[in-house]
Amino acid sequence: MNVDISRSGLSEEQIQPMLLKAEEALGVILSGTVEMTGWVSAPILRNHDELDRIIKTAAEIQSRCEVFIVLGIGGSSLGARAVLEAVYARKENPVQLIFAGDSLDACAINRVKEQIQKKECCLCVVSKSGTTMETLIAFSILKEAMEKKYGDAAAGRIYAVTDGSHGSLREETQREGYVSFEIPKDVGGRYSVLTEVGLFPLAVGGVDVRQILDGAESIAVDAEGCHDAAQYAAARVCLYDAGKHIECFESFDPAMETFGKWLQQLFGESEGKDGKGIFPAVLTFTRDLHSMGQFLQEGAPILFETMILFDKAGDEVETPATAGAPLAGLTVDQVNNCVTRGVISAHAQAGIPLISVSQPTKDLFSLGQLIYFFELASSISATLLGVDPFNQPGVERYKQEAWEEINQLWNTKNK
Ligand code: PA5
Repeated sequence: MNVDISRSGLSEEQIQPMLLKAEEALGVILSGTVEMTGWVSAPILRNHDELDRIIKTAAEIQSRCEVFIVLGIGGSSLGARAVLEAVYARKENPVQLIFAGDSLDACAINRVKEQIQKKECCLCVVSKSGTTMETLIAFSILKEAMEKKYGDAAAGRIYAVTDGSHGSLREETQREGYVSFEIPKDVGGRYSVLTEVGLFPLAVGGVDVRQILDGAESIAVDAEGCHDAAQYAAARVCLYDAGKHIECFESFDPAMETFGKWLQQLFGESEGKDGKGIFPAVLTFTRDLHSMGQFLQEGAPILFETMILFDKAGDEVETPATAGAPLAGLTVDQVNNCVTRGVISAHAQAGIPLISVSQPTKDLFSLGQLIYFFELASSISATLLGVDPFNQPGVERYKQEAWEEINQLWNTKNK
């Protein structure tokens, strides 16, 4: 992995003092003494028995169902989705994965219900708190559909990933006898993709989860990889201090768009507190060059770019002779790389600070590295901003207000 901050416009003198603080924050995070940092050592101290159980359960599911429905929101959904989409695993896998429970869209729930009626399905609910309304509503409706179709056998097709001892979902799991996995207590949602939360759906989706963990571990045990995360975090915070309050996470690979959404959650929910934080935006090129490209090139100078690049991302597809010069005979990937260099040059002319994070290829190992790198970086930069990376009081606030509204409506209806 190569992290390049040379186009960030930051001088050595600007970045050095922040880098010292970032290295200090990195040391504290890696020490394991901070609450909710169980994710730091998870790829190294693997629970091999649990990993075997995940893989075995996934194989059973693959052998008996056509559709695996995963219900969850935020950190309980985005990580697995991001990896699956990035590697196109769903294309090859015998089981189709459907992610739901991340909205209050009745049509979306109904569409999933239709799948239960038509196909052999298994249902998996992922929620650490067990109180998330979007996930719970979808679960109650779809569980009923499963019970209608499979009768008493439905419970054998329902899986839960939740807290080991707390919450109504754990109680229900025990009561109904669902096969379940525990979310480690010291890992929060947005840092949980490399735990049971992400690994179980990924395994069902046909992903070799050990390769992702190997990638993550290779950064965790590598002083240079950890230093790169500290350097990136320091650069982000220097740019923020210089008035660049928006970070555009950019990829030239549309399959990385959900990875961008995962990054958006990781950084947005970790940093956006106490009136501070870098607003994370997600752009997919070349599509968004034809819309936001204008703003980037000539709009208000309030943002910086973080490009995630792969030297070789896609299939080898050659442009035919009919395309004429100068495209004929070039592969689509080669053209994409030319456009990448063109964009970097144009944006440099516009003075946009740019950081690039490059990998030679897009595979499970390199995705595992990226996940761990960005998890480290977000926890370091939130610390540099002086906020707690691992809480989300703002999210709790909307949940509380929404539950009050729901309770009021329920009371009115049941008077
Ligand atoms: O990062 C977080 O903590 C959140 O995004 C949660 O993952 C999200 O709110 C879902 O919570 P839960 O797993 O409790 O349903």
